[in-house]
This record gives sequence, structure tokens and C-alpha cells, in this order.
Amino acid sequence: MAVSDKGLLGIEELSREEIEAILERAKHFQPVQHQAVKKLEILRGKMIVNLFFESSTRTRTSFEIAAKRMGADTVSISASGSSVSKGESLVDTLNTLAAMRPDAIVMRHAASGAPHFLARHLPIPIINAGDGTHEHPTQALLDALTILDKRPSLEGLRVAIIGDIAHSRVARSNAHLLSKFGVEVVLCGPSTLLPRELEHLAPNVHLTWDMNEAITDADVIMMLRVQLERQHEVLFPASEYFRFYGLAQEHIDRAKPDVIVMHPGPINRGRELSSEVADSQSSVILNQVENGVAVRMAVLERVLN
Ligand code: CP
Repeated sequence: MAVSDKGLLGIEELSREEIEAILERAKHFQPVQHQAVKKLEILRGKMIVNLFFESSTRTRTSFEIAAKRMGADTVSISASGSSVSKGESLVDTLNTLAAMRPDAIVMRHAASGAPHFLARHLPIPIINAGDGTHEHPTQALLDALTILDKRPSLEGLRVAIIGDIAHSRVARSNAHLLSKFGVEVVLCGPSTLLPRELEHLAPNVHLTWDMNEAITDADVIMMLRVQLERQHEVLFPASEYFRFYGLAQEHIDRAKPDVIVMHPGPINRGRELSSEVADSQSSVILNQVENGVAVRMAVLERVLN
């Protein structure tokens, strides 16, 4: 089992059965979000450390809420407020935290593979909350849950993932997950943000630079944030981006009539998608955020029990 005492490091190494088991448990936790009393006892006595070396609103908050709803205690640390800002290394920071005997560490880091490296050296489960441009496993799980709220199954769907594919851990985790369920995954973006080798990332993954081609007959359109913080040279003319790769209402007519529009957030209105689309009936962006809590409750339960 890939979700184990090592934690959850990526979607690539998970089996379809294991993903289904997490999603089933997440469905079980969805109604908890609407109960008057939301606190469960399942992880009572457990201590979870959230260690974020990169900014986050959704992932960090929802891991914390998920842990608390499961009855666990949490401590949240960001790099800027910790001894990392005094020059402490990643390994020393993690060894220091491990010496306080938490039961799991949730970690976001700018370096691809950082959680995998630490999982090999620490006796504590590590949950990857996003590592560089590599993976964001809980985002893909919550995206799958959100699609399944609107569709009976993933099998046979066409999902267009559009934008800054090159720097997107969300695109990679989603491509791995959706591919395992027989989804046709179309990755689309400007050529400088769409590495050709991603065609070999997983079965059923196709690449196109043409946004209209990507969207035609899509069941799901997943827009991505342009990650300017990871771009160290000009990769596209910023003023032209929306014209070629921004999602506007006229695109929606090319997709299936009941198309779902997704975005992992944070969204940049007017760059990646218009406000009209972001706030439309097709948009499930806030449903994704809500499902983040249920999915992270399921992941924490699986890792810690
Ligand atoms: N989707 C996502 O990872 O958002 P945050 O960066 O706000 O956590």
C-alpha cells in the first residue's frame, strides 16, 4: 500500500483501488461539513504538524481544519516565522520537529522531491501538500471527488487541463489520477509552458497548443494558475495570455452542455478565466475548496490509523 507509515507522497505510486478507498471515505466525511457539531474523535490524541515552506491559503487551512475535525491536535509552521529564516537546513528543521514526536508532518516545499527525501530519513509519516512542480496529491483527490459529485464515474470522461502545465504539480497529479480511471486527459498551453515529454506522463494523456481543440466536447475544463513565481524568464507575452489561453464564456459552448469548470486556486480573474466564467453555474471552484476538507480528513485517517 502506498498510503502507509511513509505517508502520502504522490498519486503516481497509488493504485486505483487505493484512490477509490480514499474517495469513498471522503464521501463519508462530506456530510460532516454541514453538521452543527463537526468534531469527530477518530484521531483523538494525535498531533499533526503543518510545515509550509511556500504560501498557501486553501491547502494549509483545510489540512488544519481536517485534522481538528478528526479530533487531532495541530501545530502550523511557516518558513518565514521559523528558524529556517535563520539559515536552518530542511533536514535539521525536520529532525528538530521529529524529536518532538508528532504523529505526522504535512509539508509543502518548493523543491520537487523534498517530501520523498525526508520520508526516507524520518520515522514519521509525511503528507505531501505540494512539492515544487512535481505533485500535489490531495489536490488531485479533491478534484476527483468534485467531479464525482457531478458525474456517476470518471471512466470515459474528457478532461482539458489548460494553462501553465510546465510548472503545475496540480496538472501532474491530476493526469496520473485521471489516467488510472480511463479518462482522456488533454494538456493545453503555450508551447513554452507545455513540455513535449509530458505526453509520456501517463496513458491517455494528449497535448495541444490549441485551446479550442482542447475544450471541444470536454466534460471538465480545469484551468491552471500562471505560476509567475517559478518563471525566471519571459515565457509568453503577459498582455496576450488571456486572448489565447484564458477561459471566456464563448469557449464554454464548444464543451459538453453540462461542462464543469475547475481551478485549484488562487485564481487570477482576467488572466486565466473571466469573472463571468468563474462565477457561473458551470464553476465548481468553491466546491473544490469545500471537498478539500473531506479529502484531507480521509487522507489523515488513512495515514494515521
Ligand atoms: N490549490 C492550492 O494548493 O491552493 P493554495 O496554494 O492556496 O494552498
